[in-house]
Amino acid sequence: MYYPEELIRQIREKSDIVSVISRYVPLTRKGRNYFGLCPFHGEKTPSFSVNPTEQFYHCFGCGAGGNVFTFLQNMENLSFVEAVQQLAGEAHIPLPETELSPKEKARIARRERMYEANREAARFFYVQLVKSPYGAAAREYLAGRQVSETYLKKFGLGYAPISRDGLSRYLMSKGYEPELLRSACLMGGDESRVYDRFFNRVMFPIFDVRGRVIAFGGRVIGKGEPKYLNSSDTELFNKRKNLYAMNLAKKSRRKEALMVEGYMDVFSLHQAGFDNAVASLGTALTPEQAMLLKRYFEEVCLVYDSDTAGTNAARRAIPILEEAGLSVRVLRVPGAKDPDEFIKANGAQAFEELIGKAMDPVDFELAISDTKTLTGQIETMKKMRERLMRISDDSERELHIKDVAARLGISPQTLARQVEEERRNFGTEEYRKARQTMIRGGKDRSGDGPEQTQTQLLALLLQYPNSRGVIFAQVSPADFPQNMPAGEEKEPRENIFHRAAQYIFDKRQERIVAADLINLAEDEKDQRRLAGVATQELPKTKEELEKLAVETIRRLRQATLDEQLRRASQAEELQRVIQQKKQLESLEIHL
Ligand code: CTP
Ligand code: MN
Repeated sequence: MYYPEELIRQIREKSDIVSVISRYVPLTRKGRNYFGLCPFHGEKTPSFSVNPTEQFYHCFGCGAGGNVFTFLQNMENLSFVEAVQQLAGEAHIPLPETELSPKEKARIARRERMYEANREAARFFYVQLVKSPYGAAAREYLAGRQVSETYLKKFGLGYAPISRDGLSRYLMSKGYEPELLRSACLMGGDESRVYDRFFNRVMFPIFDVRGRVIAFGGRVIGKGEPKYLNSSDTELFNKRKNLYAMNLAKKSRRKEALMVEGYMDVFSLHQAGFDNAVASLGTALTPEQAMLLKRYFEEVCLVYDSDTAGTNAARRAIPILEEAGLSVRVLRVPGAKDPDEFIKANGAQAFEELIGKAMDPVDFELAISDTKTLTGQIETMKKMRERLMRISDDSERELHIKDVAARLGISPQTLARQVEEERRNFGTEEYRKARQTMIRGGKDRSGDGPEQTQTQLLALLLQYPNSRGVIFAQVSPADFPQNMPAGEEKEPRENIFHRAAQYIFDKRQERIVAADLINLAEDEKDQRRLAGVATQELPKTKEELEKLAVETIRRLRQATLDEQLRRASQAEELQRVIQQKKQLESLEIHL
């Protein structure tokens, strides 16, 4: 935190969290809180809550949580400082320039410079394509693919020269540091030799939603391997979170996005008047990309090649898009062609007609299933039940059930009964838990592990200010471990609960709102942990609260004392620790 805490608080209080979040998520008021569909994991029933008093949000489904700053950080891919600056701007609160730490300043400057380097690179490629004699072959290639001048410019296509170091030399002559260019995935090699990441390729700049160049895809001219070469992930580019041409498609007036497989497909579609086409970037569609689509569209039409790979890609994408709250249709381009080839062969009008005939997921599933053999039919039945169960509208579901039953040659009553049974299971607690565990990446976070212990004790301290004196008489911030137990991360990570405990301890006389606590965390995981503290359900009666206090304090203290035992080198020290452990057994707390 490099701005004074008081200033951050002032900005936060002036930026009403409900109205900021409402820009992205429609919220409805229920009691003291607001509810809406979680923008971070996609869902059909709202489990995302915003608490205006404590000024934080929390999703009971996926565990996302934070304050108004973290919300903007996540939605707009901003750093903390950038989020503060944006909200300060909106609230007309002047920010002292000098309050940024040198580290944070350097980070912002570096990102800015990387954006600039990418823009310069795109401009360089463009000039090579349209002006340089070396670009002739690329121009010819693109002309052969019927790329118009207007759209070439609109998409900023370019050519990476064959020289192998043209771009690197150019950018270094402009003062860009080699290290920066390497991190931006524009340059390879080491001190002794530099070479361009892309050479002799037609270049497709990848823009983020705000229209900044963040990466590139490059295609060989004619035949060659690999056909496409893409930037790896960088500080600016995460391929899981971006979609090709989303910067353009977001302005489309069509309600339905067209999701295709390739750069050239997107290009041809736009050129043919389908300005709603986007592509995922050489990967299977991710939930993040689905959420991005949801920000601008209600519906998505999947336009994948009709080969096995394309069919499988569509099958995997459907539930991800539906989870994000989008309705989905699937278009299979006939003749195993991709949209680019289809349009070239048949024209835009024919493609428009194809879109009109796109299938809903039920028909798609049937169309790709084996309904000829008995085993095929049984397998298909299973898939169809799963599919039909997900249709939430009753009459729509009934119609589909009748249709499917007729096509599979079974009675609609039987199928309806089975589907209803699936639906009952679907709604159960068990099922919901399993799903949430799945969303969280297989980790079940309940139980009484060290994380849960600290969460509960901090929740008590936060939600019951009067308990602070009594509790801090028995346990100190030092009992909250400094570091997280070594886990997925290689380096030891700071335990955010330690910082939180210290914060509450320092301010034990003051009122602390959850949003302040969340500010202590810099990364998303930690912000979630602290939002978890704010929403932790505590027992209602005094006796139960006291019991919880005793149990959690005991667990934390026990760990500290065990550690001291391990370290003890002198007899008296041992004695003292053992004494304390004994006392711990008879610990009582009176709130
Ligand atoms: N792709 C990739 N790397 C490859 C091949 C493909 O990243 N080696 C990605 C690209 O985004 C590409 C998409 O997958 O646009 C679809 O690949 P493919 O169907 O093979 O290419 P097309 O888009 O049809 O390319 P073109 O029309 O230029 O031949
Ligand atoms: Mn193609």
